[in-house]
Amino acid sequence: MTTEKKSFYISTPIYYPSDKLHIGHTYSTVAADTIARFKKLLGYDVFFLTGTDEHGQKIEQAAIAAGKEPKEYVDKIVESIVHLWEVMNIDYDKFIRTTDAYHVKSIQSIFRKLYEQGDIYKSYYEGWYCTPCEAYWTNTQLDDGKCPDCGREVHMAKEEAYFFKMSNYAQRLIDHIHANPNFISPESAKNEMLNNFLLPGLEDLCVSRTSFQWGIPVDFDEKHVVYVWVDALSNYISALGYLNDEPQLMDRFWPADVHLIGKDILRFHTIYWPIILMALGLDLPKQIYGHGWILLKGGKMSKSKGNVIDPIELVEKYGTDTLRYYVLREMPFGGDGVYSEDNLITRNNADLANDLGNLLSRTTSMVDKYFGGYLPKARYFDTIDTDLIQMATDVPFVVAEYMHAYEISNALAHVWKFVSRVNKYIDETEPWVLAKDENNQARLATVLYNLLESLRIIAVLISAAMPQTAAKMQEALQFSEEAMTWQSILTFGKYPAENKICPSGALFPRVMTEEEEKRIEKRMEKEKKKMEKNTETNNEIKAEEVTEPYPPFKETITIEEFAKVDMRVATIIKAEKHPNADKLLVLQADLGYCQKQIVTGIAEFKNPGELVGKQIVVVVNLKPAKFRGMVSEAMITAVGDYETFAMIVPEKEVQAGEMVK
Ligand code: MSP
Repeated sequence: MTTEKKSFYISTPIYYPSDKLHIGHTYSTVAADTIARFKKLLGYDVFFLTGTDEHGQKIEQAAIAAGKEPKEYVDKIVESIVHLWEVMNIDYDKFIRTTDAYHVKSIQSIFRKLYEQGDIYKSYYEGWYCTPCEAYWTNTQLDDGKCPDCGREVHMAKEEAYFFKMSNYAQRLIDHIHANPNFISPESAKNEMLNNFLLPGLEDLCVSRTSFQWGIPVDFDEKHVVYVWVDALSNYISALGYLNDEPQLMDRFWPADVHLIGKDILRFHTIYWPIILMALGLDLPKQIYGHGWILLKGGKMSKSKGNVIDPIELVEKYGTDTLRYYVLREMPFGGDGVYSEDNLITRNNADLANDLGNLLSRTTSMVDKYFGGYLPKARYFDTIDTDLIQMATDVPFVVAEYMHAYEISNALAHVWKFVSRVNKYIDETEPWVLAKDENNQARLATVLYNLLESLRIIAVLISAAMPQTAAKMQEALQFSEEAMTWQSILTFGKYPAENKICPSGALFPRVMTEEEEKRIEKRMEKEKKKMEKNTETNNEIKAEEVTEPYPPFKETITIEEFAKVDMRVATIIKAEKHPNADKLLVLQADLGYCQKQIVTGIAEFKNPGELVGKQIVVVVNLKPAKFRGMVSEAMITAVGDYETFAMIVPEKEVQAGEMVK
């Protein structure tokens, strides 16, 4: 028996190729891509549509201003949009252009059909017209005499036009909205559409224009072009071959599962579009989901304010997956989010580099160090594993629930709860302590296996949101495509029992914030001044000798005096942030015969995760001191700070506790 795959059809809005696309548009498309990839992962037969909305007066005017033919003008911009989606790793199934011949054919047929069956009639239109929005407004709709959508000037216009009798379908639409509570989402959008537009009564919609030419001609009355929103909205069915000769996909994918759109275009999608569909005798999409806006601290992004955030620049600086993660995680479900580059950097450093990146590198380097990259098969489970395994087993179900409701930010937040749980498991099980005793090999292998398996589960869970990262993790952990499936993470333990891993470089490089950079500059400035001062003083005595701008050497001591300083090689077995001081780390150093606690001010240069397992040189006979309540019994040795910071380490691994001579 063959079971048919369940279909899933998702669309983004089709974008105007007039302005450069910014991070707000990128959010819409990355969100749709993530949902589409997730449904594919779950085994759905997915159709993910995006494209460009290329007609209208605004574009005609922009082309004239650029001294180009409209088609030539849009071709160039469409190229850049396609490129942006490549950069963002958008895996759409079809890219539709409203200038594509098959789409033009559909629109002309749709218009003719609606005219012939009496839904569209010819008359005159007179009203307040907003050119940028390409919309007519009535007196009562104007907001302080301006366009209620964009706040710009409107002018009185009159033209012969075709009209769509919207009112014929208004009650049916109201009934549909009431009978299908998820049809318009979120709830606030539904109420706004009902109360502001539908319940007060719909006016007939003007669906043709004669005042400009850049549009799809009405084929039985060529001085008219089809109203751009009728043209644009119908892309959702022309892309499936509706009334054209493209592959016929209506039966397979219509009605769409979700049109994902920004909240500013809800009215077109939840009123005009359903009514057009009703008139065509087609089912309505199952859901119109209006997401929030990415705002800047000062409000909206706009070309005129010159504050548009370019996604390509951000990808060049931080990488595709960091940007994908940032927009998906920062945009709350159903609400607006405020963009800031510092927040992006914090997300990169904290969630990606520290939490996830370090988890992978700590795990793979321990597997490498303790077992040469190859785990032996013997296992020894402990009760301490139960909680981790329980969470690993639950996490896919919770994530799937959020994703089915398009709550991507909540889904990612839940994955990161699991990432933190796995990091905690390393602290609980202390593999570096287990590694010291031959008799603990099976237990050590089990702990590391549990870590590898958890990382595999995380890779699958993030694969829709961050495909490149998931692939890098798969490469490092060396598991097959079969172990990359959703089904494979529903039971714990599908990571191959015996497997050679392949440790890779950092998943996410840490990035410095502007604030950090400024601090470094200040510090360097200070150092420079100090050095200049020192050089001046020394010049008086030994002007000839000091040629390098380094601090002068300290006074000479005897070998006996030096011998008083007891320096040893220590292995760091634990490293964590000081609970009460941001700049301090607390290290546990293994000195062979004993352990010492070291409190050290290197939290700005080193992550705790990268220190564990490292051998360093420490001074062990300094008088213990307390730092913010924690005792420090030794001192690390190091040079430089920030980018130049480096710890003094032995050239090769030696016995912990060896004396430095
Ligand atoms: N061409 C129409 C859509 C036709 S769909 C049949 C259009 N294009 S647009 O390029 O202006 O906008 C496309 C989408 O980007 C809209 O959903 C809009 O809400 C979204 N965004 C534009 N700026 C945005 C933010 N700052 N934040 C989030 N999304 C925003 O409208």
